[in-house]
Amino acid sequence: EWSPASFVESTVEELKAQLGNDRVILGLSGGVDSSVCATLLNKAIGKNLTCIFVDHGMLRKNEFAKVMEAYSGLGLNVIGVDASEKFFKDLEGVSDPETKRKIIGRDFVEVFNAEAKKIVDAKWLAQGTIYPDRIESLSITGMVIKSHHNVGGLPKEMKLQLCEPLQWLFKDEVRRVGRQLQMPERLINRHPFPGPGLAVRILGDITREKVRILQDADDIYIEEMHNYVCEDGDALYNKVWQAGTVLLSTIRSVGVMGDERTYEHPVALRAVTSMDAMTADWAHLPYDFMAKVSNEIINKVKGVNRVCYDISSKPPSTIEWE
Ligand code: XMP
Repeated sequence: EWSPASFVESTVEELKAQLGNDRVILGLSGGVDSSVCATLLNKAIGKNLTCIFVDHGMLRKNEFAKVMEAYSGLGLNVIGVDASEKFFKDLEGVSDPETKRKIIGRDFVEVFNAEAKKIVDAKWLAQGTIYPDRIESLSITGMVIKSHHNVGGLPKEMKLQLCEPLQWLFKDEVRRVGRQLQMPERLINRHPFPGPGLAVRILGDITREKVRILQDADDIYIEEMHNYVCEDGDALYNKVWQAGTVLLSTIRSVGVMGDERTYEHPVALRAVTSMDAMTADWAHLPYDFMAKVSNEIINKVKGVNRVCYDISSKPPSTIEWE
């Protein structure tokens, strides 16, 4: 019978046997899967694990710093790379969603490889691939992560072998393993977040200023979601599969602030319930929660004068807007 405790015990033993004294590289994204994978490997091989966490500049507000801190609390050996300059430069003027993804994917591989190459004696590349990612056609997330990190994309001379200790697990099992490993709840309960990050949540081209506006609005939304306690005592954040904010920067609308007429961008709030991201329903968020978030965003985030809620389900819509 499967239990998180027996999984951890047997997997750590298997990893020790499989990896011996070899060095292993792992790409961390800040998400649940890669973080649990790293913690498991850390338990098995400790200092022989080197993690690489690339900041492309389109993470959430303060996310890079916060996640790096959480990782250091877990005792992980992490190289954090701030590559935002490169990504912003290469994305300049680009509005097409798939082109954004291609550029980010390509830059990511380049930055990751440059770091990986420095670990000259590495023998393995570990990935937090989970079972649904393996059913390729069923998981966009998995496909993109694969094209980001896969062995084919790594320097050929390194000849890394692939190590995927979570490959038979579903998301809820990964979370249970994380709890077994005593990882912080905040890390374990994190919503999925797309590899290209906020780049696919800004309609039109990307600038640092737009990212800042979106980060500020999103931070209010997500923090309030953590703070809002539901009847059963659990946070609203834990009731939804995924939530995020979209900056409709190709649209302007008129508003009024004090005596001033404003002509600014709207944001759309998105929250969905789902089992696997293949299908999703828009979440029926409480009105008092939405009212508070809307007020706060409009009052505090300069550049936003209207807040909308996305009431589309998947299909026929998608979770992300791009
Ligand atoms: P959609 O928008 O297709 O998203 O309903 C389904 C799930 O996949 C995530 N997503 C991505 N993840 N790279 C990723 O790593 C991407 O390019 C990407 N696009 C969408 C999305 O956040 C949701 O969880």
